[in-house]
Amino acid sequence: MKFGTKIIHNKHSIDQHTGALSVPIHQVSTFAQESVDHFGKYDYARSGNPTRDALEETVALLENGSHGFAFASGMAAISSVLLLFSPGDHLVVCEDVYGGAFRVLTTLFTRLGIQSTFVDATDPARIAEAITPATKAIYLETPSNPLLKITDLRAAVDLAKERGLLTLVDNTFMTPYLQRPLDLGCDIVLHSGTKFLNGHSDVICGFAVVKDEELGKRIKFIQNAFGAVLGPQDCWLVLRGLKTAGKDG
Ligand SMILES: Cc1ncc(COP(=O)(O)O)c(C=O)c1O
Repeated sequence: MKFGTKIIHNKHSIDQHTGALSVPIHQVSTFAQESVDHFGKYDYARSGNPTRDALEETVALLENGSHGFAFASGMAAISSVLLLFSPGDHLVVCEDVYGGAFRVLTTLFTRLGIQSTFVDATDPARIAEAITPATKAIYLETPSNPLLKITDLRAAVDLAKERGLLTLVDNTFMTPYLQRPLDLGCDIVLHSGTKFLNGHSDVICGFAVVKDEELGKRIKFIQNAFGAVLGPQDCWLVLRGLKTAGKDG
């Protein structure tokens, strides 16, 4: 299936329980359980909600990932994913990363003992120079906001893989219609879905997508533990916005 087809003909195009041609909005906090010993697929909507599942699976499908995670904003997605790192860890970050990401990295995350070095990532040599024994990840945005600088993702992934680092890419500006970082070997794709993914200027939302099962489990743990999830109404609006996100190509 091509991109535009995947958006509208995936497993969520028909509701399995009712045949509805639009994903129902499960406006609910808590799900009834069979017994204290037998939990169903859903128990509490921070941990999982069918409307959010439909959106997360659709975004993962578009990014050619295996697991998608919907957050209350792009910054919630970025900050939640940054909780993968621990005091003493170091990140190499593109120098004109989105200002909100720069702010959390240089204030909240430095306070938690996670340091970042900002480099001109358009030159892979600058990325390589900044890597230290404490470096755990390379965090890129291409094109970057605001200067629209372009990074060679394959070159960055080569550097990262040689050294056992994760590669994080904010794909907000390109969307999976034009760029799929997981296909190039990157580990985590981030989005401010507020922009092109939703496309209607009526929702603040964010996403993380991964291909790796283990990484998916770690982000799922953070999403549930930290709790910055996207509500079901907004999930539905983004699902609707996405339907016109790309024609076949
Ligand atoms: C590239 C990029 N990443 C992340 C964000 C943050 O997203 P949000 O405003 O949804 O929190 C923005 C917002 O402008 C952005 O442009």
